[in-house]
Amino acid sequence: MASYDVIIIGSGPGGYVCAIRCAQLGLKTAVVEGRETLGGTCLNVGCIPSKALLHASHMLHEAEHNFAKMGLKGKSPSVDWKQMLAYKHDVIGQNTKGIEFLFKKNKIDWLKGWGSIPEAGRVKVGDDTHEAKSIIIASGSESSSLPGVEIDEKVVVTSTGALELPKVPKTMVVIGAGVIGLEMGSVYARLGSEVTVVEYLDAITPGMDGEVQKNFQKILKKQGIKFVMGAAVQSVDALKTKAKVNYKLRKDDTEHQLDADVVLVATGRKPYVDGLGLDSLGVEMTKRGQIKTDDHWQTSVKGVYAIGDAIEGPMLAHKAEDEGMAVACVLAGQHGHVNYNVIPGVIYTHPEVANVGETEESLKDQGRAYKVGKFSFMGNGRAKANFAGEGFVKILADKETDRILGAHIIGPMAGDLIHEICVAMEFGASAEDLALTCHAHPTYSEAVREAALACGDGPIHS
Ligand code: NAI
Repeated sequence: MASYDVIIIGSGPGGYVCAIRCAQLGLKTAVVEGRETLGGTCLNVGCIPSKALLHASHMLHEAEHNFAKMGLKGKSPSVDWKQMLAYKHDVIGQNTKGIEFLFKKNKIDWLKGWGSIPEAGRVKVGDDTHEAKSIIIASGSESSSLPGVEIDEKVVVTSTGALELPKVPKTMVVIGAGVIGLEMGSVYARLGSEVTVVEYLDAITPGMDGEVQKNFQKILKKQGIKFVMGAAVQSVDALKTKAKVNYKLRKDDTEHQLDADVVLVATGRKPYVDGLGLDSLGVEMTKRGQIKTDDHWQTSVKGVYAIGDAIEGPMLAHKAEDEGMAVACVLAGQHGHVNYNVIPGVIYTHPEVANVGETEESLKDQGRAYKVGKFSFMGNGRAKANFAGEGFVKILADKETDRILGAHIIGPMAGDLIHEICVAMEFGASAEDLALTCHAHPTYSEAVREAALACGDGPIHS
């Protein structure tokens, strides 16, 4: 029986980052992982592989739509799907091996197998039991399906199957206009599939700023993605090589059907806590099946902690990473802190969509007085040169104090641009602070400064 200061269950972004920080802070650390490679959903079947396919399909889109305009003539590339998947696998391999290297470098033991917690202080992996002063559950999440919908990962797939289809389908129905549905829908639409998104609500990307939702949907429609809104999917009939999606329109209760070669079910994810033994351990759960934790990520059982998708809050890799680092600090006797008000969200479509903090809707709900500074990428020289004039930066600031409360960006590199605003918010900056900061020309970041200027005396280039 090996003995550790910390055993972490799960090697996704929450678990592996937590392990590295624990080791750096002098704690003897092990990670339990049952997959053949480290990195969890994110590196193996989530964030990283989907970004590889988004990048490759975006390159194709550029070649088809913009190369000739720039004087780059010749035949557009065609899709070699096998090679695209091989490229994706190579990217996964580089990343997962990178984590293995970091584990060795930081002297972190990888306990191979699926872990369970028979009692506080002990973790069972296969036939072995290990001792640990603290246990951290970082077991992540899994796709949640709908009643009446059976996933076979061939014709009716989750995001996992969608990353590994045998060929590019002619037609695809995506159930759910959330992050996964729109990212994977974009990939296949660019590769030539006819993509229809069926969404229960009347707006895409639930929880996002309303103006962004509308503009984003318009942009996606222009790219050829079709939407059926206000439609509740009732069931999917899977045939051998096709499927029928049965849905009801909420406005009049009428029933409809859509045929597709592939149906992607992207209706959310749920915590993955199977087999951990949480019931018998007496760990308290929320009604939504998440592990309940206190301000220091400790569960109702002393010495057992939980982070990431398995607990409350947004299911985002970077939120899990932050919690992982914070809980490592707590265990090392330091202060661990996560500012849940400044967690950015990014959708890696083209253009990208990024947000942080309050939306106009959430500010109205709170009855707070705010002002809006907006700037279109059409007024940004760099964006125009790169055929990236679609979208805008929108900053929400307190009407009285000018303090930045939130920001929303549709546009080129939105997922990177948002961090300038995150840092500003962490420092309690006003829109004027951002507006008075010199921004290099010509950069996309100038659009952020212009939006900050728009909160005051006005932008220059509009
Ligand atoms: P989601 O919660 O973002 O969206 C699910 C959508 O499905 C909702 O709009 C919902 O109204 C709709 N829906 C539910 N039941 C339905 C029905 N019966 N008929 C029609 N529509 C229905 O879930 P998604 O996209 O599966 O993502 C899961 C999690 O993974 C999210 O928390 C997301 O933040 C995370 N994720 C984040 C990424 C990123 O940050 N870029 C990338 C991929 C996933």
